[in-house]
This record gives sequence, structure tokens and C-alpha cells, in this order.
Amino acid sequence: MKKNIPLLCILGLIGFVVMTTVQSVHGFPDGIVGFSGQNGTHCNVCHNTGIVPEVSIAGPSVVEPGNAYLYTLMIAGGQEIAGGLDVSVTNGVLAAISADTQLLSGEITHTDPKAANPDGTVTFTFQWTAPITATAVTMYGAGNSVDLLNGNQGDAADVTTLAISVMELNEKVYLPVVMKP
Ligand code: HEC
Repeated sequence: MKKNIPLLCILGLIGFVVMTTVQSVHGFPDGIVGFSGQNGTHCNVCHNTGIVPEVSIAGPSVVEPGNAYLYTLMIAGGQEIAGGLDVSVTNGVLAAISADTQLLSGEITHTDPKAANPDGTVTFTFQWTAPITATAVTMYGAGNSVDLLNGNQGDAADVTTLAISVMELNEKVYLPVVMKP
């Protein structure tokens, strides 16, 4: 009996590793970060066999330092059933403004697979606050079009980027000085 204790320990450790791995895999329908495309990979590392959608981000591309703006990521085409997203930025601060998204590790991701609109698109709106100094920022967005079946199969994602210039817009206007005679 004593001889089996190390074996039990090893089995217990394997069980723990398997359980935590399974748990993290099941966490993906509730959002995932690190796959916005910024690191060179996106959702298709794991999701495949579906129709690839078109992903776009709409929002201001010239902004003022320190101000907050709204952006909308749209997934068009694909499965036209449901979708998820991951958005990251090279600067500034993202924020979730509705229940369909959340902020995880500074990135915006879905809370649950979001059902498609009647026209088949899936849209997520979130907020981004520009940094306080003039600079160029890239927003990376991955949109995954999913079928709500068979885990990560029958799904497909695509990525997009938005270039944003942060600059002072209300430059002072200097009127000519009229000299009195
Ligand atoms: C490391 C692998 C992996 C990556 C990368 C990944 N996923 Fe997943 N995702 C899964 C697995 C596995 C499931 C199925 C889990 C389950 O059924 O519980 C899943 C399920 C989902 C679902 C629910 C799908 C359905 O049909 O019900 C959504 C939505 C989703 N992921 C979004 C994303 C998005 C968005 C990205 C990229 C930003 C992404 N995933 C990247 C592994 C991954």
C-alpha cells in the first residue's frame, strides 16, 4: 500500500493539470484575449471549417489627446449566427460599456457568444480613451463568426486594424494684427 503513494501523487497531479486545462478551454466562449492579431495569431489557430467573415472597425481615426471615443467592431457574413471578439490597442485605454463585452488584461472581449442581428451581422460597441500626448495608435480587432455548435468547429474568424492619429485638433487661430495709424 505504501508503495502506491508516489503513484497516487502523480495521478493526482495529472488530474489537476487536466482539470485546469479543460476549465480554461471551456472559458473561451466567455471571452479570450491575446488573439486580436497584434501578436500575429488570432482565433483561427483553434477555430476552423466555417465560412470566413469580413471584420471591420468603425470609429474616429483622428482624435484629440485624453478624450474618449466609441468604436464598433462588425462581423459581416460568415455563419451569420453568433460571434465573439478580441480587441487590443498599442496605446490608450479600452473600456467595456455594455454587458456584451468585458475588459480582460486591457483587451475587449465578449462575455458570451453574441447572437447575430436580423441582417446577419454581429456588432460590438466599446470605448477607447486616447493617450494624453500626440502619437499614432493601432487598434487590432479579431472577430470570430461561430455556429454555436461543435465547439471550435464550423467557425471562422478574420482580423482588421484601424490606424488612429492622436493630435491636438483645435489649433489656435492667429488673426492678423491690424496696426493703427
Ligand atoms: C487556444 C484555442 C482557442 C483560441 C485561440 C480561440 N478559441 Fe474560441 N473556443 C475554443 C474552444 C475549444 C471552444 C469550444 C469550447 C466549448 O465548447 O466549451 C471555443 C469556443 C468559442 C466560442 C463559442 C463558439 C460556439 O460555437 O459556441 C466563441 C464565441 C469563441 N470561442 C470566440 C473566440 C474568439 C473571438 C477568439 C479569438 C479572439 C477565439 N475564440 C480563440 C478554443 C479557442
